[in-house]
Amino acid sequence: MNKNTLSVTDNRTGKIYEIPIEHGAVPAIDFRQIKESEDDFGLMCYDPSYSNTAACRSNITYIDGDKGILLYRGYPIEQLAEECTFLECAYLTLYGELPTESQLSTFTHGVLRHTMIHENVKKFMEGFNYDAHPMSMLMSTVAALSTYYPESVDVRHEELRTEQVLRIVGQVPTLAAYCYRHRRGLPYNYPDDELGYVENLMHMLWKRTEHKYKPHPVLAKALEVLFILHLDHEQNCSSTTMRTAGSSLADPYVTTAAAIAALSGPLHGGANEAVLRMLDEIGSVNNIPAFIKEVKEGKRRLMGFGHRVYKNYDPRAKMIKRIADEVFEVTGRNPRLDTALELERIALQDEYFVARKLYPNVDFYSGIIYQAMGFNPAYFTVLFAIPRTPGWLAQWEEMLMDKEQKIARPRQLYLGYGHRDVVPMSERAESAVAV
Ligand code: ACO
Repeated sequence: MNKNTLSVTDNRTGKIYEIPIEHGAVPAIDFRQIKESEDDFGLMCYDPSYSNTAACRSNITYIDGDKGILLYRGYPIEQLAEECTFLECAYLTLYGELPTESQLSTFTHGVLRHTMIHENVKKFMEGFNYDAHPMSMLMSTVAALSTYYPESVDVRHEELRTEQVLRIVGQVPTLAAYCYRHRRGLPYNYPDDELGYVENLMHMLWKRTEHKYKPHPVLAKALEVLFILHLDHEQNCSSTTMRTAGSSLADPYVTTAAAIAALSGPLHGGANEAVLRMLDEIGSVNNIPAFIKEVKEGKRRLMGFGHRVYKNYDPRAKMIKRIADEVFEVTGRNPRLDTALELERIALQDEYFVARKLYPNVDFYSGIIYQAMGFNPAYFTVLFAIPRTPGWLAQWEEMLMDKEQKIARPRQLYLGYGHRDVVPMSERAESAVAV
């Protein structure tokens, strides 16, 4: 018997089936042959929230959640953060290999050339309230770009696709900076192509009346590393949304907007904002035991803790904790760090968190750094979306090139009514749910 198979006995019929095992997985479609009777639809796999379902083959990012390992195209993020720039890593994620000097120069030129946005987009943004959430503004403006580049609907055209990828990677930081300035009522700063990718973002965010903005090198380096750590994270909620929306062959602008929407939620990228609000609410170290008690009673969650894949310390959180000290040397120490460190200390010793393997994730310390740099918590998730954009686009490209991929269309277990006839309104009983 072939050893790389799974033998399944259907106890309803007594029949035995051989299902092939490849790369540690069984094809879900092979279970469809398992039927109770001829007119049976066949067995389905029930997996709400895809806890144990691989929806694609991928060569981009590898995570070993038990060991706390994260690799982009095989390279450990610790080495990439130490030795490469964000754009080098974006190139690696998008095209599979680290660039040579000339490849990086062409890519950098391609991205920075696209940082300028259509003037009408500014008018469009003027319609947002001064206190509009920056993630909602970013999502809407990225979707609106679709109306400026109608040729992008041709997602099967390789050259056009490459052009849109460069444009989106180039324009998202500009839109993000405009969202930041809009909330402050400040004029938008046009991109400065003499600056690098991260330095240009800092210029668009923070330049006031000075003739030439000079980014602080320590803050620029910290942002660069934070961006590298946020670049990709395989099939998380937003990347899956990117692949799902893109599988209908929707254009990359609206598809990226869908991914931004998914990232904005507090259980995903929005957790960094939620962490800061939680730390503010806890206030002082003395209030931590009462807070932890509520978490253990299931009344709330310890935001920035826990992960679907990592059952060990998130390697990104480890590195971010180190960056904090360098940033605080420049900005001054964020007092919330003491509360965060004490929360972590208590949680890592507490049976509730130990038993559930809950460790700090990427969002636990990033907000404290961003706040020290002067960002408002509402903006933190935008700082996640900017570097995640090339990651989403790499996932999108891989999905489009994958011959096994079709439009995403899960099945359901229908548990509702069977057939029933409509009764006239005068004969209807009041339903339990009143609208
Ligand atoms: N605080 C308290 N308890 C938690 C937490 C938490 N942060 N996370 C999980 N748990 C508990 C659950 O209550 C559950 O306990 P139970 O078995 O007694 O019911 C157990 O741990 C397993 O939790 P699940 O919700 O099943 O784990 P899941 O993999 O679905 O969730 C998630 C992962 C969403 C990240 C979760 O840990 C969470 O809500 N964390 C807080 C939000 C957060 O930090 N999100 C950012 C994640 S990183 C990112 O997206 C970039």
